Amino acid sequence: MRIAAIALVAALPCLGQQFGLTENLAPNLPTPQLIVEKMLEAGHVKAGETVYDLGSGDGRILIAAAQQFGARGVGIEILPEMCEKSRRHIKELGLEGRITIVEGSVLRADLRPADVVTMCLLTASNERLRPLLEKSLKPGTRVVSSEFPVKGWRPFAVAHVREGSLEHIIYVYNMGNIR
Ligand SMILES: C[S@@+](CC[C@H](N)C(=O)[O-])C[C@H]1O[C@@H](n2cnc3c(N)ncnc32)[C@H](O)[C@@H]1O
Repeated sequence: MRIAAIALVAALPCLGQQFGLTENLAPNLPTPQLIVEKMLEAGHVKAGETVYDLGSGDGRILIAAAQQFGARGVGIEILPEMCEKSRRHIKELGLEGRITIVEGSVLRADLRPADVVTMCLLTASNERLRPLLEKSLKPGTRVVSSEFPVKGWRPFAVAHVREGSLEHIIYVYNMGNIR
């Protein structure tokens, strides 16, 4: 149902009024907490590594990465209100030294320092991001995509996670071995 909602909302023209349709890679629909944890596990996030969440929303992936995996986090988010909300929450949790939220479009972001990239975008958005990911990410960087694959890449793992009556899919790629 979440996938259908994402696809439906993404198609709504009103979303585009805020920042232009060409920049809109997905609506703001938070990932269920269970899936957040499974994504970080599937990406083998280790203490001290840097996780980039592309379209970081309320910051939940980065907060879990810092609190449960000892990672650092960088979130890139296009909606100013979500940047503000996530920064406020990160500060309340005392994680401001570990997590940075950058306001802007992931299509123009510097992703080079990432050890792990997480994304909950649409298949077409993943396709648009693919050249930047291939250009920027070093071999060994894991890319973890919830629900939607990166077309043209071979995953090294695909996890199926049941949450109530819903089944979620998590695709994991290693930049050293995508073809
Ligand atoms: C499906 S939500 C996922 C939020 C969060 N990562 C999570 O898992 O809960 C997608 C997010 O991407 C953001 N977004 C959409 N297009 C973007 C872009 N070009 N650059 C940065 N963020 C973008 C949306 O505002 C939204 O917060």
